[in-house]
Amino acid sequence: MGETKRLILTGDPEHDNPLIEQAAAVIRAGGLVAFPTETVYGLGADALNPDAVRRIFEAKERPTWDPLIVHVSDADELHRLVRAMPPAVERLVQTLMPGPLTLVLPKADCVPDLVTAGRPTVAVRIPTHLVALALIRASATPIAAPSANRFGRPSPTTADHVMADLAGRIEMVLDAGATPVGVESTVLDLTSEPPVILRPGGVPRETIESLIGSVRLLEEAFPEGQPLPSPGTSPRHYAPRVPVLLCPPEPTALFQAAQDALNLYEQIGVMAPDGWQLPPSSRLVRFEWGEWGNWQQLARQLFAGLRALEAHGVEAILCPLPPASKLALALRDRLLRAAQT
Ligand code: TXA
Ligand code: MG
Repeated sequence: MGETKRLILTGDPEHDNPLIEQAAAVIRAGGLVAFPTETVYGLGADALNPDAVRRIFEAKERPTWDPLIVHVSDADELHRLVRAMPPAVERLVQTLMPGPLTLVLPKADCVPDLVTAGRPTVAVRIPTHLVALALIRASATPIAAPSANRFGRPSPTTADHVMADLAGRIEMVLDAGATPVGVESTVLDLTSEPPVILRPGGVPRETIESLIGSVRLLEEAFPEGQPLPSPGTSPRHYAPRVPVLLCPPEPTALFQAAQDALNLYEQIGVMAPDGWQLPPSSRLVRFEWGEWGNWQQLARQLFAGLRALEAHGVEAILCPLPPASKLALALRDRLLRAAQT
């Protein structure tokens, strides 16, 4: 595998369309293209070509028991990938898709077993990002895409993050700047009753429940060694290479925790909400995370902050833990997993 080509998009269709065509040609030829979605960058391959899909697992060093999400550009394509679609599900599709929501449904025969890790279900999603939609359409095939990071690492929200993890392992990355949501899609399993949120994400639980009634939420972190209800719910995930320390979400608690961490580590990084005071120390690196309570803003900056502090060379990263409601639940979930040892 040679160098990874980086194509920079400008948002002007006249400039971008030929580049998207190039990327689609790579997908059709069985290659790997990283591309932006509204949530995070995905690592795409032709979902109907098992040889191409196998290369995703190799590039990410992802175990083949962890199934992939299949991305399509409209509801008709989505219907072709699933066997059954209950009427309540149709309501979710009509209202929340395209959007940061992934549905787990009984799979159609055309979906290769490698994509679903041998499961009888398939995860499907329609992204809103125009580049993602254009790439799927130009490729004329559904695109299997996990987040474009090495397995277990924080998801990439910029093309730089993708290159840091996957340069030399994939053919191409479409660079359209930072992704607007910043955390992954909500994964909703509709094959059990009540439906289960396997992974909280960009669409809040409250929004889903307003449409289809109550859903169940998987526990936050599973003890090591227990059978996992969903393959991708490994306790340690989304993790930078250094320990992540969590503290209660109050300015005084963060200040105290920073002081404690400075006694343990030579240099620490802090995911600091706007205006929260920290102990003055040259051994403390502050990442300006955003306004506490503005979960959209904090979600956009979460993985970027973890990666930036890690790249700075800190020995540990300290972060206040968001509450378990609305979009904050997705941030809380990622941080609890990143902090697992
Ligand atoms: O926002 C997103 O969902 C991003 C963008 C690129 O679309 N993709 C993403 O993919 O986060 P990935 O592979 O990093 O996470 C997909 C999650 C994993 O936890 C996987 O185990 C779960 O979805 N999943 C996929 N297929 C499944 C299935 N058939 N049953 C249960 N869980 C499934
Ligand atoms: Mg992932």
